[in-house]
Parts: sequence; C-alpha cells; structure tokens
Amino acid sequence: MIPQSFIDDLLNRLSVVDVVGRAVTLKKAGANYQSCCPFHEEKTPSFTVSPSKQFYHCFGCGAHGNIIDFTMAWRNLSFVQAIEELAHSAGLSVPKNELKRAERQPDILTPLLEEASNFYRNSLKGSKRAIEYLKARGVTGQTAARFGLGYAPPGWQALAKVLKNYEEQGPIDSGLVVLNDSGRRYDRFRDRIMFPIKGHRGRIVGFGGRVLDAGEPKYLNSPETRLFEKGRELYGLVQAQRAIHSKNRVLVVEGYMDVVMLHQHGIDYAVATLGTATTSTHAKALIRLADEVIFSFDGDAAGRRAAWRALGHCLQVIEDGKRVKFLFLPDGEDPDSFVRDHGAEAFEKLIETAQSLSRFMLDHLASESELNTEEGRAKFVKQAGAMLQQVTAPVYQLLLRKSVADMAGLSLEELDGIYKANISLPTSITTNNLKVARSVRSAPSLSRHLVRLILMQPSLAMDLQADEFSGAGTELLRALIEMIKLNGEMTEGELEQQFARSEFENTISRILSEIRELNGKIEVKQEFMDAIKKWHLQQRKRRIGELLKTELTPAQKLELLGLLPH
Ligand code: GTP
Ligand code: MN
Repeated sequence: MIPQSFIDDLLNRLSVVDVVGRAVTLKKAGANYQSCCPFHEEKTPSFTVSPSKQFYHCFGCGAHGNIIDFTMAWRNLSFVQAIEELAHSAGLSVPKNELKRAERQPDILTPLLEEASNFYRNSLKGSKRAIEYLKARGVTGQTAARFGLGYAPPGWQALAKVLKNYEEQGPIDSGLVVLNDSGRRYDRFRDRIMFPIKGHRGRIVGFGGRVLDAGEPKYLNSPETRLFEKGRELYGLVQAQRAIHSKNRVLVVEGYMDVVMLHQHGIDYAVATLGTATTSTHAKALIRLADEVIFSFDGDAAGRRAAWRALGHCLQVIEDGKRVKFLFLPDGEDPDSFVRDHGAEAFEKLIETAQSLSRFMLDHLASESELNTEEGRAKFVKQAGAMLQQVTAPVYQLLLRKSVADMAGLSLEELDGIYKANISLPTSITTNNLKVARSVRSAPSLSRHLVRLILMQPSLAMDLQADEFSGAGTELLRALIEMIKLNGEMTEGELEQQFARSEFENTISRILSEIRELNGKIEVKQEFMDAIKKWHLQQRKRRIGELLKTELTPAQKLELLGLLPH
C-alpha cells in the first residue's frame, strides 16, 4: 500500500544514528557507534550502528536491520505503524490513502480547481473593491499570496471563459458549477473572496468563499466531492506543516480568517476545521502531527459545546506523551480579532492559559454534579466512567482514574472496583440475564425509532456516542452514529448509499419507506429527545434491577444512590 518511493525517501531523510540514538545511548567507536544491545541483556557492548551502511547489528543476539526494523522491534509496531511513526518524526505524512484514491479515480478535477484558482487570484488583482476589503481586514499582499487568496467576480458564468469544458460534467463534479432544476449552469462562487483549500498533498481540493458585505451565507464552501471531504481536511495545513513539525505543536481554530491572520502574525502552526465540528478523523490526524494539540474556541456556550464534542473525539485517539489542550477566548474575540488587537505575543501568552484535556473534562463533569453530596459524586463517577472507557492510552487512563477517584473521595481501588462492576458501561451488560432483559423488551423498537429519527435528521447523531447503545438490535444504530460522526453533515441519500450492500441495506430501505409515511407528521427533534430520555431510563432500570439482586459493596451502594431518581 505504501509506495516504495516514499519508503526510500524516508530512509534517505532519517539517519540510523538519530533513530537508534533516541532509544539507546550510543558511543562513537571508529567509524561506527556502539552500545549495549537493547534487545538482549548484556554487560559489554556488542550492539553496533553503522552510519555508512545505515544498519545496526548485534554481535551478541544477531538482531540487525535498518531504521524500520529497529522501530518495529523496539516499539513493537507493525511495518505500517513503524513507517507512520518514522514519517511523523520526519514531518512527512504517509501517502497511502491518496494512492488508493488515485488508483480508483485518476483525477481530472484537480486541473479544473487549479485553473479556477488562478482565475480567482487574477481577478483579485483587478478588483479594487476586493483588495480594499482585504486591506481593511489587515491582510497584507504577502499573506494573500501565501494563501492563494482570490476573488470570484460577480456574474453567473465568469468561469465559462476560463474552463474549456464548462458545459461538461467535470465542473459540476468539482463543485465549481451548479446545475439548476431547469438545466442551466452557473458559477457557485460569485462576488466572494476566495480561500483555496489544499489537501495534504498540496493540491487544491475545494474553496471557501466569503461575501464582501453583509450577504448570506457569510461563507460558502465547496460541496463535498470525491476530492474534498470536509471532515477530513484542515485549512492551512500545507502552509503550517513545517512550523507544526519544528515547534511540535498545532493550534486548531474555527475560521479561515483566523488561520490567515495568525500566520501573518507569525503564529504559523495554526490550522482550521472547515466550518464543521471537529471530527474523529481530524482528531486522529492532529494527534499524529505534533505532541501538543491546542484547540481554540469561543468562550461562549456554543464554543464550550463545540469543545466538549472535540474532546469526545480526542479521548479515543490520545496517546501517552501527547498533550491536548483547550483554549477559550475572551468574550467576543476570535483569534483573528485577538492577534490584530493585541499581537502575537499576547496570543501566545493566552495559549499558556489553555486547559489540559483532563482538567477541562473533569471540571466540566464536576460542574454538572454536586460533588459535596453522595448523589452528586455518584453521578460524577458514572459520567467520568463512560468517558474513561474510551481512553486507550494506558498511562493517561490511569492518571485520569486517579483524578476521578480523588475528586469523588474514593481510593483508586474502590473506583476501579466500581468500574469493573460496570456502573455506567452498558456495553458489558449483556442480554444473558433474562429477568433483567424483560424490563427492556422494547429496546429493539426504541433503537429502531432512533435510527428512523436520525435518518430524518442526520445531524441529531452528532451529539451521541455510539457506545452509549448496546444490546440486541442496536447494531445499525451504532453504525449509523459512527458513520455520521465520521463524515460530518450527511444527507439521507448519502447515508442510504453508504449502507448499500451492507448487512443493513434491507433494514435501511424498509425504514426509509416508513419515514416517507411519517414525513411531516412528527416533530423530529422532540421525538428524538424523548426517545433518548427513554433509552437512558431503560438503561438505568436495568442496572438498578441488577444491583438490587445482589449484596451491595459500599461502592455499589454509591452507584445505586446515583441511579435512583434524585
Ligand atoms: P470572518 O467574519 O470573516 O472573520 O469569519 P470568521 O472566520 O470569524 O467566521 P465565523 O467565526 O463566523 O465562522 C468560522 C467558520 O465557520 C468560517 O471560517 C467558516 O468556515 C464557517 N462559517 C461561517 N459562516 C458560515 C456560513 O454562513 N456558512 C458556512 N457553510 N460556513 C460558515
Ligand atoms: Mn472572524
């Protein structure tokens, strides 16, 4: 899957002395380096590293190979993982996805997007109004050039003069041209400042366009195309890549202008999500980019909700040794206005105030429970448990458990006992207990109802966690939630397509026909909230039933208190 040329490039860029030297202390011995072998016990050094051959060899145990072999053996990784690890340390990203994609679809859309971008950049030079707009916002010519900013002129078919195949399918597939119901074509972007969005290979995959005055929508983005998945790309990554690597830190902001102005002020490790919430794909990519990931959000309630959602995605992908932080900006400021008013130094000082992921998570949970009451502490323990469960990094998880235990006034052993007994983790409560199962007989129909509602309004899934749902009949519901969270905004049609030929195909088409009958007859949002409430109620009843059947430990007593209605 990984192209050989990339592997060769990696081997050329990294030195065996550096890679091995990160793990063991090497001493120079003639043309080579030596140390005690990290792969077997020994007192005198027989492990040799040769910079000229780019190899290591142990005369004691016979271990030998290049940096990839070393990384696999030392870190206990697969070949692909080792390549990823090494690529990361060299500031490169492994091109395997693009490779797959390129094989599937040799892409004719790229030149279209490039031509359009050139056109937009030239039009900017010719538009006094657009230049004035950018000037008024403090954007220098150099910055505009660095980000390839442009201007889409007014007029319905300006691109017709630029794209030779305006009448063909390509421009529509690229998202540059819209086909209306009566079969007429027109440019999607008109009279807007244009921000080209580059994929991680450096090629343009889409655009964002901002109105110059108070029009609606303020920002218009390219639709998703085969080149452009909003939940995957990060605006500014190409420009920021080098700084992210050298500073070992990445700042994630919300807007195009935020990225552009931060870079202009020297905060050149900033990227933005593309008008969508942070997805788990983003979180995964960001964690790989640098050891420190800082998410910046507005300080208002909406910003905190968005941060909470981003946090949820980070839990699953955080690794030991990585630091994820949340920065909340002062009221009414965004990064753009802040650097403009106060400068880069002040912004970096602000970054120092960012809360760690664990602090943000635990404080937030604590604020929702009254920790000075037993019931509140029980609720806190329960909610923290559901989140902790998602953390796979062992050290990180242990530290979080310790903090939770402290805050709840429990010892770590007591807390772990509660979690083992599974206070809040419905995943492990299986249906093998028939008596308990009886009380939740309606679970399958309830989960089907949730599927129905989510298909009617896919954005409802964004606030759910797939593993809140478990048991018979919830498979589709979980798959659906994961799919939507992975892809961001999806339409009913896109979902149907994604599930075509899956095990759920028939169920989905049946549910879709049920929906057509329902359409307009129900309040989707209200129904959804009721159904979720019902779901939690059922889970609670089930667990209470379980607890009441056994002799309770003190921890279970606490759990039971938390479950009973307050
Ligand atoms: P400026 O007003 O130019 O400073 O924009 P901003 O970057 O501060 O925008 P804002 O905080 O309002 O929005 C942040 C990001 O959300 C933008 O960069 C866009 O990606 C996205 N966004 C904002 N408004 C819209 C909109 O009307 N439609 C869409 N699709 N996205 C939007
Ligand atoms: Mn702004």
